[in-house]
Amino acid sequence: MALITWKMEDGSEITADVKDGLNLMEAAASNNVPHIEGECGGCLSCATCHVFVDSDWFAKTGEVDDIEDTMLEMTDVEREDNSRLSCQIVASADLDGLILYVPEPE
Ligand code: FES
Repeated sequence: MALITWKMEDGSEITADVKDGLNLMEAAASNNVPHIEGECGGCLSCATCHVFVDSDWFAKTGEVDDIEDTMLEMTDVEREDNSRLSCQIVASADLDGLILYVPEPE
């Protein structure tokens, strides 16, 4: 289980316990986090699950592989150094306390 917090640009936030093995796009959907669409269902072909990872946590979310890196060029909000596609981050106890910032397309 991992306690995950999604922070929105308007200052609101949603925090939820996410069970191990669930990816954080699915977790966002089941907790009604706005602006994380997950159109491809997590098969790494849409880039609509873009998040910015709190810098203290970025290294713990794992490696960005080549396909994710390519898809991060297609996000609605321009990628930054701490960008990830949340369908590629899988909940585990190591991520307990993780903070994600949700970009809002214009
Ligand atoms: S849900 Fe489509 S790339 Fe993450």
